[in-house]
Amino acid sequence: MSKVTGAWRVVAQLNALDPDYPAGVTVDGLEIALHRVGDDVYATSNICSHAFALLSDGEIEGFEVFCPLHGGGFDVRTGEAKSPPCVEKINVYRVRLEGQSVSINIGGDHNE
Ligand code: FES
Repeated sequence: MSKVTGAWRVVAQLNALDPDYPAGVTVDGLEIALHRVGDDVYATSNICSHAFALLSDGEIEGFEVFCPLHGGGFDVRTGEAKSPPCVEKINVYRVRLEGQSVSINIGGDHNE
């Protein structure tokens, strides 16, 4: 379903993203969560670094996404763990907005 544009993949439409709940997408086998904050979108790994849970089943408050399993949180801008029990950061990916079109780049420029 994603469209190849170089290393950028169109993965969503902005107006389809709920500001309260992340959206999960899979790109080249990577589980990625899209987080809408206002009219900006941030992309992180969709898998919590604490145990196995999908952040797309969690909720967004401000710039923090909360894991549904134990309530830990991450800053969607940096992937840093912000709320316990999470301590290990998660990957973030570059996002590009063109009109309503949301693209992400899973190339070598993220914080892996
Ligand atoms: S699995 Fe996410 S906080 Fe425990």
